[in-house]
Amino acid sequence: MFRQPDECAQIVRSTLMIVSETVRKQIEGASWIRRMFEEGIRLKKERGAENIFDFTLGNPTEDPPREVRAALLKLAGQNAPGSHGYMPNAGFPEVRRKLAESLKRDTGVPFTENHILMTVGCAGAMNTVFKAILNPGDEVIVPMPCFPDYRFYILNFSGEMVPVETDASFELDVAAIQSKITPKTRAIILNSPNNPTGVIYSEAVLRELEGVLQRADHPIIVISDEPYKSFVYDGATCPETASIISNCIIATSWSKTWSIPGERIGYLAISPRIPEAESLSQACTFTNRILGFINAPAIWQLATAEAPDALPDLAGYREKRDLLCDGLAEAGYEVLKPQGAFYLFLKTPIPDDMEFTRILQAEGVLAVPGRGFGRSGYVRLSLTVSRDTIVRSLPFFKKALEAVK
Ligand SMILES: Cc1ncc(COP(=O)(O)O)c(C=O)c1O
Repeated sequence: MFRQPDECAQIVRSTLMIVSETVRKQIEGASWIRRMFEEGIRLKKERGAENIFDFTLGNPTEDPPREVRAALLKLAGQNAPGSHGYMPNAGFPEVRRKLAESLKRDTGVPFTENHILMTVGCAGAMNTVFKAILNPGDEVIVPMPCFPDYRFYILNFSGEMVPVETDASFELDVAAIQSKITPKTRAIILNSPNNPTGVIYSEAVLRELEGVLQRADHPIIVISDEPYKSFVYDGATCPETASIISNCIIATSWSKTWSIPGERIGYLAISPRIPEAESLSQACTFTNRILGFINAPAIWQLATAEAPDALPDLAGYREKRDLLCDGLAEAGYEVLKPQGAFYLFLKTPIPDDMEFTRILQAEGVLAVPGRGFGRSGYVRLSLTVSRDTIVRSLPFFKKALEAVK
């Protein structure tokens, strides 16, 4: 059984009396993914791990690429002077220089090391930038459905998240975004390829958005959240947001690309086309420090420069995507194949995604209800599971569908 929200609230109320009201409320309303993950652990104990198919967490099970492991071993063996100490808070200059060069090559935008800030993962990057740009009450527009933690990152700095719906195929609706712009709009978050939908925003729609932003009365920053940038399938390409959007800050990490989310390494790239880019970079370096990150993990900064071209096993992910999508379509589900990232946002055969999540769970399949991402009527399935898990789970997906027909 799930813990019902009231039950969770009760636990929070009775055990966390020292915890602030704000955080208590946030815990009450959040963490669908984590809750499902914990439910999975309980069910595995109860029914045996082989009978539970856990599609809840975006925690890659693949090994990090060979070049990355080799780089780490090399760096540990070298133990070069200064490699474990403080460095400039923005990160090792030579690492930032290399990154700036590759970004300049990929985007055509003249990034230099002064525009790059090494961060504690992508979450660290986003918090650093929000701390630098948000005044209390400032608004951040977020296309829905979205990664649930955005709301908290924005609230951390007393900002307000302004959700905006995407269209029927989860593409950006620029007119809807435009209608949400107010004098308080400070930023827009774009996440492409998208978690949870797998959609890649098209070049045309990004250009349309750039037109709107150019005509706005004040500068609005686009924070391009790109941790899934390397995950694209079927020859699709993911447009470079920084090439199209002038006021763009890239926030990203190697968490997913290299299967190292526990290592916490990412970066911010502040487009030199932003007015005051230089002072924004300095502000972010400062906020990264005072948020307590100080700097990104030293050895991982160095590793990124050692293995700049290491990529995920895309063929493996594509095979799993096809197996799951084709298998579900064959069973009778309505499936929109993701173009990128590693999630399937599956339409539930009944409108109540919570109820359908329960039905799946009774069959041993764990999924995250779409409402956790701000869109009911869907569940998110992560492709970070093994091929075997997908194959063995399909009959149970079918049984769940039959149960509601
Ligand atoms: C869309 C999105 N943004 C940011 C993050 C945070 O990434 P990181 O683990 O590098 O902080 C995640 C993690 O799942 C994500 O899905």
